[in-house]
Amino acid sequence: MTRKLLLLIVLGYALFSCKPESVSNSNSQLNPEIETKISDLLSQMTLDEKMGQLNQYTSQWEMTGPAPQGASQQHLLDQIKSGLVGSMLNVTGAEATRKTQTLALENSRLKIPMIFGYDVIHGYQTMFPIPLAEASSWEPELARRSSRVAAIESAAAGLHWTFAPMVDVSRDARWGRVMEGSGEDPYLGSLFAAARVKGFQGDDLSANNTIAACVKHFAAYGFIEAGRDYNTVDISENTLRNVILPPFKAAADAGAVTFMNAFNEIGGTPSTINTHLLRDILKGEWGFNGFVVSDWNSIGELLIHGVAADTKDAAKLAIKAGSDMDMEGYCFVPNLKTLVEEKAVDLSLIDDAVRRVLRVKFQLGLFDDPYKYCDENKEKTLILTPENLQIAREAARKSIVLLKNEGRLLPLRKEGQKIALIGELAADKDVPLGSWRAKAITSSAISLLEGMQHAMASPTDLIFAKGPVFISGQSKFNLPLEFNTTDRTGIAEAVKVARNADVVVLALGENCFQTGEGRSQTDIKLKGLQQELLEAICAVNKNVVVVLMNGRPLDLSWMAENVPSIVEAWHLGSESGNGIADVLFGDYNPAGKLPVSFPRNVGQLPLYYNHKSTGRPNNGDNNVFSSHFTDASNDALFPFGYGLSYTTFAYSDLKLSSSEISKGEKVQVSVTVKNTGLVAGQEVVQLYIRDLVGSTTRPVKELKAFEKISLEAGGSQVVNFELTENDLAFWGADNQFRAESGDFNLWVGPNSVEGLKTSFKLK
Ligand code: NOJ
Repeated sequence: MTRKLLLLIVLGYALFSCKPESVSNSNSQLNPEIETKISDLLSQMTLDEKMGQLNQYTSQWEMTGPAPQGASQQHLLDQIKSGLVGSMLNVTGAEATRKTQTLALENSRLKIPMIFGYDVIHGYQTMFPIPLAEASSWEPELARRSSRVAAIESAAAGLHWTFAPMVDVSRDARWGRVMEGSGEDPYLGSLFAAARVKGFQGDDLSANNTIAACVKHFAAYGFIEAGRDYNTVDISENTLRNVILPPFKAAADAGAVTFMNAFNEIGGTPSTINTHLLRDILKGEWGFNGFVVSDWNSIGELLIHGVAADTKDAAKLAIKAGSDMDMEGYCFVPNLKTLVEEKAVDLSLIDDAVRRVLRVKFQLGLFDDPYKYCDENKEKTLILTPENLQIAREAARKSIVLLKNEGRLLPLRKEGQKIALIGELAADKDVPLGSWRAKAITSSAISLLEGMQHAMASPTDLIFAKGPVFISGQSKFNLPLEFNTTDRTGIAEAVKVARNADVVVLALGENCFQTGEGRSQTDIKLKGLQQELLEAICAVNKNVVVVLMNGRPLDLSWMAENVPSIVEAWHLGSESGNGIADVLFGDYNPAGKLPVSFPRNVGQLPLYYNHKSTGRPNNGDNNVFSSHFTDASNDALFPFGYGLSYTTFAYSDLKLSSSEISKGEKVQVSVTVKNTGLVAGQEVVQLYIRDLVGSTTRPVKELKAFEKISLEAGGSQVVNFELTENDLAFWGADNQFRAESGDFNLWVGPNSVEGLKTSFKLK
């Protein structure tokens, strides 16, 4: 190394080691000091080094996608040392990230730190409820807090970046990834998206316990045909703008510094090369200053989609469209340099992409101290702490939705009642950890059995029977899961235990690896021998409480008719069993509401409350020429926003400040909610509107506001909402977001189908 070069590097280091000013989370403001540093660095970089910053590889010891062909460990190490790898995913732990970072820093010419990313979707090691479950809390602040904990644990383990939040609006329970998002509503989804970004990134991205968020999958992945993963999407600009993009926009506004492409095409153009999405909307209209990472090999898959002839073509299309980093695609590094030399790609595009990647690295403070997240001590003390588990327990119980409670079978008594607990899932310590489980310790969740044992005064009042085996030969990446449909061992014993009990708690649902990426299903009924077990138990005991553990809406038609109490407990994370027991025994009065519609059968899908009227709506009479099914109703079995409590609430006095408002004015809405039952409880008070006539068709209902309130038995409260012109705006026929004059219906109630109704006019 020449003396001059050494001096440059030392100077460079001195320059980079000044602590950057605390970065603003705003996507519209740039920090001039950081921008100057990026310009200095860019001016020193060769084209190879620039390409390197846009290149991301997985570690070879953990894969979250199909294994790359022909990539060797040695090749990977050589490229890191040459500064050809700007980022890695799936390297975790303070020690591993330190060692990998050292390779780049001690060998590469410019010593640019790598950024380490990982799928921290619902916790790092302290596992929180799956995101769909957490959305059932209708408490975005809870999601902020759980994401905060996930960020603290991840940062302590050397990570800088999570591939979350997943903000895809999803309407089809066949899709395995419904578990990963916040359900079917763009408004609820937007609040959760923003809350999670704030939780991961905190107020200061340069702090050593905050990590960069990555908003995914941009865009429309939740609209794949038939819910079959990776399938085709063909949607209008109207649906894109009004339904799909709002949570992405909310996340960008909350300051998210990275976005991830979706695997799917939209109307013939894969998202990875969708200039309209990436350049016009994200980086243009929204002023997004961060970078876009491809999904796993989504640039390479352009060849398979049939829009690129070879990897060079794919690299060109992707960089031009605005994809900045190539995750596991092996397309950028071999091709970008040639593309620039051949003038097929303008150098300014590469510089812009590199600038974006470097900006996030500066914002994270990695140039100050590339090892700041690699602290073995912190890793030992900050992960899986009692405080974190306490938040996980709070999140677990708040995510539970009480679907049915006939005859007030629940809550159960902690003594003096003989309880039969039945079902393999009841004793399972692994399934509750969920599908995207990051570094969760296998079988580390509190099972339902344990949770109930902890809660009960006399453990002898609880008798457990496992019932039949649910899944034989289960393994995370060894799909399909084999459901046992032949071995009935255990049913007779379970029936015997049920017959002799005062009440039966029956755990049913899904294995956690029935949902998640690549886990689409055409059938959403209970699998294996679960339905048979359910019917056998119901035949001998009328007092059955079903506790559901699942990651998608299921077809619960038989159960809803025949079982008095149903508790939707999803996959609730580390504290699952304690959280469920809190609800079963009434230590916590459930207040969760569904963030997705539960269909009556799979044939209704996609099903969502905010559908359009059609020209021939079914008014309940099943008129042959109305939009209906001849063999099932149009309605959900359990609608969006639905959930019961151990108390009851009455709504009255719905009032508006005015029945006519002008543009720019606000309408104040008030309603009185009274707790009419015998115990204290919480209610999510929901406000919906319908814009009766628009320049384009409008949904029959749209959630616009909600508030979660607490009321003592007999207590009442006036709940106030305020609607602005902006709340009434939509993407209309003139391709603008604006409110259109006309009449609106407005409802306030406990879910998307019930409630008090009024109307107003926007002049
Ligand atoms: C593919 C998934 O679609 C994406 O969500 C995930 O972040 C990447 N794999 C990395 O694991």
